[in-house]
Amino acid sequence: MQISNLFRRNWWAIFYFNFKMLPFRQAIKFPFDFYGSVRFPDLSGKIEIPDNIHRGCFQFGQCENAIFPYSKMTITIRGLWKFNGNLFNLGTGSTVEINEHAVLETGTDVLIAPKYRIILKKGAKIGNHVRISWEGQMFDSNFHYMRNTSTGDIPFINKNIVIGNNCWVGNRVTINKGSQLPDYTVVAAGSLTNKNYIKDGKTHLTLAGSPAKVVAEGFERIFETLEEPLCIELNEREYRENP
Ligand SMILES: CC(C)(COP(=O)(O)OP(=O)(O)OC[C@H]1O[C@@H](n2cnc3c(N)ncnc32)[C@H](O)[C@@H]1OP(=O)(O)O)[C@@H](O)C(=O)NCCC(=O)NCCS
Repeated sequence: MQISNLFRRNWWAIFYFNFKMLPFRQAIKFPFDFYGSVRFPDLSGKIEIPDNIHRGCFQFGQCENAIFPYSKMTITIRGLWKFNGNLFNLGTGSTVEINEHAVLETGTDVLIAPKYRIILKKGAKIGNHVRISWEGQMFDSNFHYMRNTSTGDIPFINKNIVIGNNCWVGNRVTINKGSQLPDYTVVAAGSLTNKNYIKDGKTHLTLAGSPAKVVAEGFERIFETLEEPLCIELNEREYRENP
């Protein structure tokens, strides 16, 4: 453990959250790690985690780069947050609000960048190996009701969200209620998704615009794997050849 990280950790939040939300046998492993300032307005809901946890496998409030200095996180859990995997990272300055009856499911190896907002009234399921970039938001509700003046009907306002495995969501994307993204979806920066894009069993869609439409097929994000050094080399070659 780096000495500087020791001081950046919020030890009060680490003790409070682990022991409040987990049974003793899990809490003493301290799987939840908090950095910087954090508020817990309401933790009356539940957390479920898998058995294969380890110290600090769920990271909250870490600063990923100099663009986003530490800022306050707010975590409200009135419903259920179910961790289906044991690697999760939520960036500094983010807000999560899981309301009563709502369920948030997050897979393994999920990284959500700083200043992200999740507000759920019903539910969202995020798959494995997902990257969601900074300053975006995910809402499964319109929050307010509307009446159809011809029929008098008042439609439901909440719809579940599904984000498949290996998806990459760009910065400042709004994922609205009812969004369903197939595996290996890429969403362009600044877009708004609001539909079920899972059709004909297709994966590897690039979505862009507001509302987002399919603008390309057959691309996937290269994650932090052995392939990445090759890509950096490729980028350097591009600078040399196209100065
Ligand atoms: C999704 C993305 C990666 C695709 O990059 P790319 O393969 O280089 O493709 P382009 O940016 O040329 O976009 C492909 C097409 O989508 C369109 N498009 C891209 N973003 C769009 C948007 N927000 N709204 C509407 N159309 C958009 C482009 O105009 C292009 O269409 P065209 O070929 O008809 O001109 C890129 O658009 C993007 O969003 N980059 C930002 C990623 C990010 O947020 N990184 C933060 C750190 S994780």
